[in-house]
Amino acid sequence: MNKPVRKAIFPVAGMGTRFLPATKANPKEMLPVVDKPLIQYAAEEAVKAGIEVLIFVNGRSKRAIPDHFDKAYELETELEARGKHNQLELVRNILPPKVSAVYIRQPEALGLGDAVYRAHAVIDDEPFAVILADDLIDSGSDGALKQLVDVYSQERCSVLGVEKVPMSEIHRYGVVAGRQSGEQLWEVEGILEKPKRENAPSDVGVVGRYVLTPAIFDFIKETQKGAGGEIQLTDAIAALLSKERVVAHELQGVRYDCGDKLGYLKATVQYALKHPELSEDFHAYLKDCFA
Ligand code: G1P
Repeated sequence: MNKPVRKAIFPVAGMGTRFLPATKANPKEMLPVVDKPLIQYAAEEAVKAGIEVLIFVNGRSKRAIPDHFDKAYELETELEARGKHNQLELVRNILPPKVSAVYIRQPEALGLGDAVYRAHAVIDDEPFAVILADDLIDSGSDGALKQLVDVYSQERCSVLGVEKVPMSEIHRYGVVAGRQSGEQLWEVEGILEKPKRENAPSDVGVVGRYVLTPAIFDFIKETQKGAGGEIQLTDAIAALLSKERVVAHELQGVRYDCGDKLGYLKATVQYALKHPELSEDFHAYLKDCFA
């Protein structure tokens, strides 16, 4: 387990039902927050954490994601001809040259566990990250995943990104049972997917960031359908605990659940308020709105 974390899986095959009809023909991960799609924020966060291989597990009608990370010859030629050099840079440098993208089809949306398992041949025998792009985390210049990768290099075991969530929302999360062993660190002793409030072992919920050891694949293979009739990554992590230590790291930063309309709107407002081109005018506009 001395290998570095070089690969990240982005499950992007979900149906995005909470955003229909916007997500009828487009994946929810392509929803923009101001001027960048969610998936690009997630890819940039991965690159900042040292990831070199991005593995997108997508479904049908998710062509927009491969297109987004691909070269756009016509657009580039047009922008060049019109002398729009700033915009040209924006579309050309979506990913640094040393980073490669791999696309895997998940024919049926059978759950997060199944999506992660589909990438096992590409991951092989290395630790890897999982990023759920609809959890947008604003955590300063290094990004949230870097925090987990740093914990992984110390602890050399699977690391879950967590935060304390209101008990009224706990049924929407994977919830950790364990004991706090450091300021932001938890020893995971159990984990339950989307428990009812009365069964929740704590208020510590998993947010969409994971660093996992490849041992997880053996357990996903054995995982039966769980919450929502889906093959849950959480259930495989619970089983992994019989073989390996798992820790949870309380992420620093502000997380927006962009799979939810209100969370998405909050992210849009906060990112617009910080956007160099918009900040001043948008502040003034909001002030007017509430005057
Ligand atoms: C998934 C995971 C859940 C986690 C959540 C974070 O659920 O299954 O354990 O807490 O992401 O956003 P989903 O939101 O995809 O239903």
